[in-house]
Parts: sequence; structure tokens; C-alpha cells
Amino acid sequence: MNFSLSEEHKMIQAAARDFAQKAKEGVIERDTHMAYPTDLVKEMGELGFMGIMTSPTYGGSGMDTLSYVLAMEEISKIDASASVIMSAHNSLALYGIEQYGSEALKENYLAPLASGKAIGCFCLSEPEAGSDATSQKTTAIDKGDHYVLNGIKNWITNGGKADYHIVIAQTDREKGHRGINAFVVEKNWEGVEIGVKEDKLGIRSSDTHSIIYTDVKVPKENRLGEDGFGFKFAMQTLEGGRIGIAAQALGIAAGAYELAAQYAQIRKAFGKPIIEHQGVAFKLAEMAMEIESARMLVYRAAVLKDEGKPYGYASAMAKLKASEVAMQVTVEAVQVHGGNGYVKEYHVERLMRDAKITQIYEGTSEIQKIVLSRHIGKGELQLPL
Ligand code: CAA
Repeated sequence: MNFSLSEEHKMIQAAARDFAQKAKEGVIERDTHMAYPTDLVKEMGELGFMGIMTSPTYGGSGMDTLSYVLAMEEISKIDASASVIMSAHNSLALYGIEQYGSEALKENYLAPLASGKAIGCFCLSEPEAGSDATSQKTTAIDKGDHYVLNGIKNWITNGGKADYHIVIAQTDREKGHRGINAFVVEKNWEGVEIGVKEDKLGIRSSDTHSIIYTDVKVPKENRLGEDGFGFKFAMQTLEGGRIGIAAQALGIAAGAYELAAQYAQIRKAFGKPIIEHQGVAFKLAEMAMEIESARMLVYRAAVLKDEGKPYGYASAMAKLKASEVAMQVTVEAVQVHGGNGYVKEYHVERLMRDAKITQIYEGTSEIQKIVLSRHIGKGELQLPL
């Protein structure tokens, strides 16, 4: 068991840390005004972060999942809106096309996406099908050489900006989850309409929209995988996506902890820095321990994926733990800051608001427990793993 990062991993981490320092400028204003970070997304493209795991054959950086996690963690310490744009794009859009797309789909779509010049999104959730992903109401009816797509998708990260959408739809309701398919749909096709932009509690400068599809003609060759593979496609995509969100949660927690630890050394009360008061010192000790335990799970899930081993339970566990730690730690970081924690300029209230979504998207905490319990039921989670 090796707990050291390679020189290459340290370089990625340092590059992401430098980028995050630039992202710090204007982060409060972007959050307040729900302003999409266009320049930062462009820079993430130039740094290779928008195609971080995509093969160089298709214009990507060809890095491993651990590199992705390290970059996500550093960016999320400062700006979780920028990091979710990167995460949804890489894990939920590029991954599926590269893994399951035909050569023609890869050639058409991956290069512009991997450079960050085009943006991707993943359209699974619906007003009544977020957690219960088999209950898709969106339909794609087979018309021979094309499908006709109709439906509404909700809470789509990158929804307003994405050039290419991965859309999950029912093609045959009778077949249940085996009657679901996934397609690449272009924003500019007739019948694609971007709906309302959500006014969110956190990750406010990321772009979250509903999307309406009305009689959209989708060429047959834009289907991802064999007929009926769409549900499994979505589940497998989310297995990897959860590693990205776990890394985001880890970064949010670590960012809030770093701010709290610095503040506790500077702020004085009753004649000494507040870190010398046991009530604050113990909080920081627990925050550090929880973050480190979450970090082990997140890095491990990434390494399992990189080693080509099953990682579905590990990504669910990492996401569940890291998102709970993010919530607890950010609440405590506000507490350590006292009154200052409640105002925007100290950043921790924003991190606390941002933390909440990590317990919800790409499967709520409850969904992660369902995923884990199914692995336990199959006898896959006997300790030690
Ligand atoms: N990989 C491959 N196949 C899988 C799989 C996986 N990870 N998980 C399940 N399957 C297969 C099963 O083996 C089964 O196949 P067979 O019938 O051939 O054996 C089939 O899929 C159906 O599986 P289940 O019966 O277990 O399916 P279920 O309906 O009970 O659902 C669930 C299981 C875990 C609850 C699943 O629905 C789920 O993960 N839901 C949450 C979805 C989610 O994360 N939504 C968030 C939206 S996306 C988002 O948030 C993006 C964003 O903007 C950031």
C-alpha cells in the first residue's frame, strides 16, 4: 500500500492549486450574481482539465482518475461552481462517449469537448425521476433511421451552456430498464429548448437549467451502446461521476478547514488565539481527522478505477462519506469564525451552502446507501476489502 503521490500527481495538484488561486478573485461576486465563470472554463480547457481523463487520441490529456480527483479537490477548496462544471463535463459527458460511443461519435464530439471549446451535460433527472432513474417519462421513439425525442429534463448541470447533451430516454416502456437508451443530442438541433435557470442555494455560478426536447430528430448512430443499454450506461457513468463529486466534497471540506485553522490562529479572545481554547482546538482536530478519512476513501476509489478493478461500491462509499464530512466541516468552520463566518467575505458560509448539494446530486446519501446495501447483499463488502 503506497500513500505517496507520484511527481506527476504532485504537478497536477500544484497546477490546480495555482488555478484555484486565480479563481479566488471574483468568487464572491460570481456567487452573488449567479455569474457563469466563462474565463475560468476557458482556462480549465487550456490547462487540459476539460478533457483530463480523455485519451490524447481524441484531444484529451490522458491522465488517470487520481489526477482528476487531485485537481477537483484543489479547485473545490476555492470555487465549487467551477469544479462542478469540470466534473459534470468530464465524468458525465466525455466518459460515456469515449467508453461507449462508436468511433464516429468519438471523432465528432470528443475533440471539441476535451479542449473545453465545447461543453457537455448529462440529462437523466426529470421532475419525477431523479433517484428513481428507471421512471423516465422522456421518450425516444424509433422511426427507422432516427429516433424522435420528447420530454423535459431537470436540474441539468451545464444545461444552458452545453453544446452536446447526453440524454437518457425511454424507447420501450414495456421493457422497463431494458427499454431505456442514451443519445448524444446537439444543442442546435430543432426542438431543443433551454428552460429556466435555477436560482440555487449553492454552487450558484454553475449553470443549472431544465431542458425541453420537442420532436427532436436524433440520428440512430447517435445512440450510445446497444439498444436497451441506456440504464446501465447511466449507472456506470454515475459510478465514475460519484468519484468526481466525492472529490468536490472533499475539497469543499478541506477549503473550509484551512480557513478555520488559519482564522483560529489569528483571532484572539480572552487574551489568546482562539485555537488555544479547547472548544475550538477539539473542533479543528475532529475536522482534520474526518477530512483525512474521507480523503482515503476518495483516493482509493480513484485508484481502484485506475487499476481496472470494480469501483461501484468504493465510489458510493467515498461520495457518501465525503459529502457528509463536507456538510459537518463547513458548519463547524462557520462556527469557528463566529459572526465573521456568517458574512460573505470570509468564504465559509458559501462553502457551507456549496456543501449541501454534494449530499444530493449524482445520487442522494440515501441512494449511496442503497447502492452499498446491494453490494453487501451480493457478498461483495466483506471486510477487510
Ligand atoms: N452498473 C451496471 N449495471 C447496473 C448498475 C451499475 N452500476 N447498477 C444497476 N445495474 C443494472 C442491474 O444489474 C440491473 O440489470 P439486470 O436487470 O440486467 O440484472 C439493472 O441495472 C437494474 O438495476 P436495479 O434493479 O438495481 O435498478 P433500480 O431501479 O433498483 O435502481 C438505483 C437502482 C441504485 C437506485 C439507481 O436507480 C440509482 O443509482 N439512482 C440514482 C440516480 C442518480 O444518481 N440520479 C442523479 C441524477 S444525475 C446528476 O445529478 C447529474 C448532475 O447534474 C451533476
